[in-house]
Amino acid sequence: MNILLTGGTGYIASHTAVVLSSLGYKVFLYDNLSNSKRQVVTQIKKITGSAVTFIKGDIRDSDRIVRLLKRKKIEAVIHFAGLKAVGHSVDRPIDYFDNNVAGTVSLVRAMNLANVKTMVFSSSATVYGNPTYLPLDEIHPKLAVNPYGRTKLHIEELLQDVSDADAEWNISCLRYFNPIGAHESGFIGEEPSDRPNNLMPYLVQVALGDLPYLRVFGGDYPTPDGTGIRDYVHVMDIADGHVAALDFLSKNGGWHALNLGTGSGCSVFELVRIFEETNQCQISAKVVERRPGDVAESYACVEKAYTKLGWRAKRTIPDMCYSAWHFRKNRVV
Ligand code: NAD
Ligand code: UFG
Repeated sequence: MNILLTGGTGYIASHTAVVLSSLGYKVFLYDNLSNSKRQVVTQIKKITGSAVTFIKGDIRDSDRIVRLLKRKKIEAVIHFAGLKAVGHSVDRPIDYFDNNVAGTVSLVRAMNLANVKTMVFSSSATVYGNPTYLPLDEIHPKLAVNPYGRTKLHIEELLQDVSDADAEWNISCLRYFNPIGAHESGFIGEEPSDRPNNLMPYLVQVALGDLPYLRVFGGDYPTPDGTGIRDYVHVMDIADGHVAALDFLSKNGGWHALNLGTGSGCSVFELVRIFEETNQCQISAKVVERRPGDVAESYACVEKAYTKLGWRAKRTIPDMCYSAWHFRKNRVV
């Protein structure tokens, strides 16, 4: 089966490409390289032993995508491409809506014209906003609190309308919780181009000595140790979730929203402790002010993904900490 991955050289897409390619899918990576590097393609080949095709391009170039979908006989698209920094989205909402929402309109238009009507979309737990109850299930109110989150919500709504209007469309919106970790080979992983915003890449840079200490955003949350709780999920489990979603869509039409998480929460202090134990290192950490917009606690109800997709996250927090560190150490030697 021929699959197009938009945002194909990015963090989550590259791990998904490895799994798909290993299973015999023919994988095409489409990316404008705004937040990733072309070398990822070589790294994927090192892992899988088989070539994936890279095409440099933007999802807003609808005509180009129509030609690509037809020429390469694509049967399904996994749509990862998007801007994802919450803070930047507050400063640059127009760029975020243009890239993420207008970009998806352009992609879906192209898919319609090429008669390719199966899509798995990278959504986010951010669509839920502040939890009104936990665990977050898929019917929890959608109260996204920043422009990035609202782009994900608008895209989900667009895709639902597309599916309502044309029964030939099959769409899964996968709401990832907090993907971290890397492929066990250490050849691919998360490589933010700027100073990291997210906890794991920041932690890794502190461990490397590139940053002096971890700023723990808030030590007075109503959680057992006072720090924020999240549902960290291994990026390779997330990758497996996409294969399960493609399989599901081959048998089921319509629009579906599904959480991808482990179902368990882990605090910042717990993650730091497990990282230190697993990787035999010391992390300096200082509690600072809460980060605006952060919620105290967020974790997924994962029953729907299990019932519909037969998917459950298998890997542990030590697996996530080990692989993230192994990847970054490999990059500096
Ligand atoms: P990433 O930045 O590593 O990957 C996104 C890729 O999309 C990048 O390679 C970038 O160059 C490309 N891209 C951006 N705009 C494009 C455009 N207009 N045309 C073509 N390519 C474009 O991010 P990631 O962490 O791999 O995230 C993938 C998707 O998952 C994103 O949509 C993100 O919003 C979503 N998501 C990520 C997380 C997370 O914590 N990483 C959580 C929830 C949802
Ligand atoms: N944190 C720190 N110090 C840091 C970075 C983070 O203490 O330097 C804390 C945060 O306050 C939070 C936890 O670590 O309690 C996780 O923060 P991240 O920034 O790693 O992740 P978020 O849960 O804030 O957001 C991430 C993605 C969003 C996505 C969301 C849900 O950045 O894009 O998960 O999937 F929407």
